[in-house]
Amino acid sequence: MDVVERSGDEDNSCDAGLVFIGRIHTPWRDRSSCPRNASESEATARIVLEAPYRPGLGSLDTISHVILLYWLHQARRDIVEIVPPTDTRAHGVFATRAPVRPNPIGLSVSQIVSVHADGLTVTGIDCLDGTPLLDIKPYFASVDAKPEARVGWYETRPNPLPPRG
Ligand SMILES: C[S@@+](CC[C@H](N)C(=O)[O-])C[C@H]1O[C@@H](n2cnc3c(N)ncnc32)[C@H](O)[C@@H]1O
Repeated sequence: MDVVERSGDEDNSCDAGLVFIGRIHTPWRDRSSCPRNASESEATARIVLEAPYRPGLGSLDTISHVILLYWLHQARRDIVEIVPPTDTRAHGVFATRAPVRPNPIGLSVSQIVSVHADGLTVTGIDCLDGTPLLDIKPYFASVDAKPEARVGWYETRPNPLPPRG
């Protein structure tokens, strides 16, 4: 995809103090085989939490879907505009779900298959094997579902791609 890099020489040193609470283990070792979004694959992923965070798994066995936030650790962070593969027009990176972004945080709404002592198994995720996990939150359909939501540029994109795989 075509990209525009950001201008300036801002200090990019970390000030957020994030910790990786675990890793997401998926079947995908390279970006070309990875699903482009969480709905594109029904493969299962195994999430393993670091030991100190495992008590946080309590009550997840009552939950069907979670929002997973993860760190797209192989993504460039200097890009502010891109031409997505499905389009010929440039879009601001914040109008896209591109992995390349100043803070490469990925999110998926994933379905829980099973909860384990050290983590969980989910379906509906699109990250590389070994991607660091930042957080897990319950998906509340009553709060999070917005059926009226629109992404205008995506609806008018010229090159819809066939599914991978
Ligand atoms: C379009 S992004 C969407 C990510 C997430 N579902 C979101 O909406 O924030 C998905 C793509 O990111 C890339 N990707 C996945 N895991 C990555 C990682 N750990 N580092 C860099 N790129 C990654 C793959 O090319 C994958 O197809």
